[in-house]
Amino acid sequence: MTAPLLPMESEAEQPADLHRDVEAVLVSQQQIAEKVAELAAKIDADYAGREIVLVGVLKGAVMVMADLARALTIPVSMEFMAVSSYGSATSSSGVVRILKDLDRDIADCHVLVVEDIIDSGLTLSWLLRNLRARHPASVEVVAMLRKPEAAQVQVPVAYMGFDIPSVFVVGYGLDYAQRYRGLPYVGTLRPEVYST
Ligand code: IMP
Ligand code: MG
Repeated sequence: MTAPLLPMESEAEQPADLHRDVEAVLVSQQQIAEKVAELAAKIDADYAGREIVLVGVLKGAVMVMADLARALTIPVSMEFMAVSSYGSATSSSGVVRILKDLDRDIADCHVLVVEDIIDSGLTLSWLLRNLRARHPASVEVVAMLRKPEAAQVQVPVAYMGFDIPSVFVVGYGLDYAQRYRGLPYVGTLRPEVYST
């Protein structure tokens, strides 16, 4: 029904080098597509008759944002924020600096935060506090992936995609050193990728 314009070409033009770096696929392209449709149907039902502001955190959330925005039938606007965590590069400290803020006021709006992955949950819990201070009518969260660590921080996620093990993953927006975001599935990298 919604076939890509050039299915064969785009298949052939997949970055073969990136695929070769993948050790295992944790969530397939098909599973992601089904989940997006399922989440969108729930959101459509819950917000029927209302308009929502999708707030995505750059850059990881761009794929979920783009797919979700197309799957929803209720009217949505798309906003992006960019944040940076202070502290070590590999683990989130929960202390966040805004690099790019929303372009609009969200007071009295229904806000849906769109997240790629919740790891420690610290970034998201900071973000929710920040957004609530702007007096929106409501704030909920949709996240495609969640790791077990997220249980340590109380972050209410209304719409959850997949619970995955505590491993580093790439693809569907997620990067390692800014690469692999364009992979259409979520997977782990071969160990040798990290050592080169
Ligand atoms: P946290 O929930 O504050 O620990 O941080 C979540 C953010 O860290 C996500 O939005 C991602 O940008 C990044 N992140 C966490 N786990 C992974 C992973 O497995 N691969 C790539 N990025 C990750
Ligand atoms: Mg993120």
